[in-house]
Amino acid sequence: MERTKISEIWNPELIGKDVCVKGWVRTRRGNKHVQFVALNDGSTIKNIQIVFDMEKFTEDQLKPITTGASLHVEGKLVESQGKGQTAEIQAETLEIYGTADVNDYPLQKKGHTLEFLREKAHLRPRTNTFGAVLRIRHTLAFAIHKFFNDHGFFYLNTPLITSSDCEGAGAMFQVTTLDLNNVPKGEDGKVDYSQDFFGKPASLTVSGQLEGELGATALGAIYTFGPTFRAENSNTPRHLAEFWMIEPEVAFNDINDNMQLAEDFIKYCINYALENAADDIEFLAKMYDEELVDRLKSVVSHEFVRLTYTEGVKILEESGHKFEFPVYWGADLQSEHERFLVEEHFKRPVILTDYPKEIKAFYMKQNDDGKTVRAMDVLFPKIGEIIGGSEREESYDKLLARIDELGIPMKDMWWYLDTRRFGTVPHSGFGLGFERLLLFVTGMTNIRDVIPFPRTPNNCEF
Ligand code: 4AD
Ligand code: MG
Repeated sequence: MERTKISEIWNPELIGKDVCVKGWVRTRRGNKHVQFVALNDGSTIKNIQIVFDMEKFTEDQLKPITTGASLHVEGKLVESQGKGQTAEIQAETLEIYGTADVNDYPLQKKGHTLEFLREKAHLRPRTNTFGAVLRIRHTLAFAIHKFFNDHGFFYLNTPLITSSDCEGAGAMFQVTTLDLNNVPKGEDGKVDYSQDFFGKPASLTVSGQLEGELGATALGAIYTFGPTFRAENSNTPRHLAEFWMIEPEVAFNDINDNMQLAEDFIKYCINYALENAADDIEFLAKMYDEELVDRLKSVVSHEFVRLTYTEGVKILEESGHKFEFPVYWGADLQSEHERFLVEEHFKRPVILTDYPKEIKAFYMKQNDDGKTVRAMDVLFPKIGEIIGGSEREESYDKLLARIDELGIPMKDMWWYLDTRRFGTVPHSGFGLGFERLLLFVTGMTNIRDVIPFPRTPNNCEF
């Protein structure tokens, strides 16, 4: 008999029909007359209840049905008497694919802590929480591609291995095939990269933006969506060493167009999740964060505040609030500052613009004041910075001057500078941290809990 996914079983037309389901046991309970098994196949947060009439099955047959075991069951789908359930299956046949020893299988009881589950990252997708998070992750990935496709953007695949440091923060993972125990050195005592795989130093990318700009100045509007690597040694609940970033880049957009795109895009994603992942979001809200759904709805229904960094700093300085990190004009804002503006002061998302050039990357468009650049960070409740972006410096001379000033090796940048030499145009873009968006939509509070296999300092298990 053809298998029905549990997500498809709640269909009134199937009531009274014979069905086949396959999945993993969540719980078994009952007595010597009747046994109940809650089965889940990952397609939905909802379990289907299987009822075993003990006149048709023996104790021995059901004994291997413990939490974590995998089953194939056929039987009749009937309306359920139990509260909260609409249907259940009266088992006729049972096949046990695999058992899960009660003494060894780690996910026996309900209500394991998230810390415990991080240690069991290989099995945690089988829990309700991670099933919900991973389905929402998929739903949002799909929404992102849909949004850009519907708005005429082209999906551009930028390289993961690169020879340039986009953000200039020097937090890159090096890629090499040199024997680290016997590194070839030149006469100057430095590593001889001519013997390395690419004939020069190479790293994992921290951003696809620079190559994205090559795409945008050819195709008009592109977006990237891929893994990004940063060797920042920041063990925080908001940083990963490997995270996913979405980077749209649009020719002819100025910073105002860029802000509008960011706001429309992020609201679309949150709305899409509310409409298409409601069961999972409600489950997480019930388990972890009662205000989750209200917070999501509030963000999509209010305009984001737009103000300059200078105005933001003034509000922070005048707030009288005691911050752990000092705040003054020129300081890089910490998440406590960002969250104060969003959660305490404005009570909605804020787009902060025109940051001091010293704390932003070389490619941002320079303002006439000589001090600030046309940067924009989108700040969110509970998260802080969720998006970072800017209008780009399109003047060849100004860009070159900034590159010189910062001592960025020119030989690495010739291809980027060519976009400004040949048919340069105003253009803008931004990067959304996918896991930060997921933190917001799921209500999870640690970024390690919204990616299937987190990579953080001292953590690279599989
Ligand atoms: O602000 P960032 O560094 O901006 C860029 O990389 C630009 N090149 C983007 C662009 O304009 N195309 O990073 C963008 C976003 C941040 O706002 C944050 O959401 C996320 O990426 N992010 C991280 N997420 C998880 N772990 C980390 N270590 C992250 N670093 C940045
Ligand atoms: Mg940033």
